Amino acid sequence: MSVNILAIESSCDDTSCAVISDGILKSNVIASQKVHEAYGGVVPELASRAHQQNIVPVVSEALRQAGLSREELTAIAYTRGPGLLGSLLVGTSFAKGMAIGLDIPLVDVNHLHAHVLSQFIRENEDDPVPTFPFICLLISGGNSQIVLVKSENEMEILGQTIDDAAGEAFDKCAKVMGLPYPGGPHIDRLSKEGDAEKFKFSKPHIQGLDYSFSGLKTSFLYTVRDGLKENPNFIEENLADLCASLQKTIIDILLNKLKKAIRQTKVREVAIGGGVSANSGVREAVEELCRNEGIKAWIPKRSFTTDNAAMVATAGYFKYLKKEFGSLDQPPYARVTL
Ligand code: KG4
Repeated sequence: MSVNILAIESSCDDTSCAVISDGILKSNVIASQKVHEAYGGVVPELASRAHQQNIVPVVSEALRQAGLSREELTAIAYTRGPGLLGSLLVGTSFAKGMAIGLDIPLVDVNHLHAHVLSQFIRENEDDPVPTFPFICLLISGGNSQIVLVKSENEMEILGQTIDDAAGEAFDKCAKVMGLPYPGGPHIDRLSKEGDAEKFKFSKPHIQGLDYSFSGLKTSFLYTVRDGLKENPNFIEENLADLCASLQKTIIDILLNKLKKAIRQTKVREVAIGGGVSANSGVREAVEELCRNEGIKAWIPKRSFTTDNAAMVATAGYFKYLKKEFGSLDQPPYARVTL
C-alpha cells in the first residue's frame, strides 16, 4: 500500500495544499492572496479570512490533480508554526478536522524545517537529493539563518539575523522607492538593468556568523532622502541603479558569512531556501561561491522557494516514516525556532 500524505500550509498569506505518494510529489496547489497589495504588507486578519475562503477549493484541487480520493490518504501533515496565528489556525483546524474525519494520523510540521527540507522534494523517482551534513542558507521574509543540517530532524543554527531578515530589507527598501508589496521580486527584475556599483550602502560588522540588515535599511533610506533633496525625480531617474546596488549589498552580506560557515564546517554541499532564494542574483552568487570552493550547490526550483505545501508534505513524510505523529490538543505556535 502506498503512503499518501496530504499537506496543508497556511502560515502567512499563501494557502497551499500538496499530495505526495511514497515520497514523490503528485500535486502542489498554491492560492496567493492579492488582497494585501493595497496595504503594502500582509494584514493578518485579511490573511486569515482569505485562508478560510481558499482552503476548501485548494485542498479539492490538490486531491484532483493527484488523482486520489480522501479515503486513499494515509496521513495529514500541516504547518504548526511559526507564522501568523490567525492564518495558522485555519490550516491547523482544517488538518485536524480531516484527520478526525478520516481517522488517520496527523503530522505537525515546523515551517522552517520544511523550508530546509524543500531540497528533498522529489517530482520523479530519480531526482537527486543532498547528502548530510550540508549547510542551508535559509532566507525569507521572516528569517535569515545559516543552518547546519545533520539529518532530517537534526539542525543547528550557526548564525542568524539579530534584527531584520533579508526579505524585510528587500521589502522595506522597495517601499521607500514606492514599489508594490512584496518588493523583493520587483527589485530582482529592475536590478537586471541597473549599475550595482553606482551607490554604496553600509554593511554590518558583526562577529561570528550572525547577520544584521537594519543598518543597511537606514543607509538606503538616507541615500534616497538626500537624493530627493537635490532632485525631486531622484528615485525615477535612478530606480534600476538603486535596486542593483541594494541587491548587490544584500548578496555581499549574505555570501560573506556563508563563505565563512563553509570554511569553518568544511561541508561539501550547500543549499538555499526561503522566499529570497528565488532571487536571481542570490542564486548565481551561491552557485559561483560553491564552484570556487569546489563544493556542490543545491538551488531549488523557484516554486519551492516561497511558501508551499510540497515542502510541508516532504517534511511530514519523514516524520510519518518515524511515526512521529502530532496530537489533536496541540495548538499552533506563532513563534518557534528550528
Ligand atoms: O519564504 P517566504 O515566501 O515567506 C515569508 O517569509 O513570509 O518569503 C517571502 C519573502 C519576501 O520578503 C519577498 O520579497 C521575498 O521573499 N522574495 C524575493 C524574491 N521573491 C520573493 N526577494 C528577492 N528576490 C526575489 N526574486
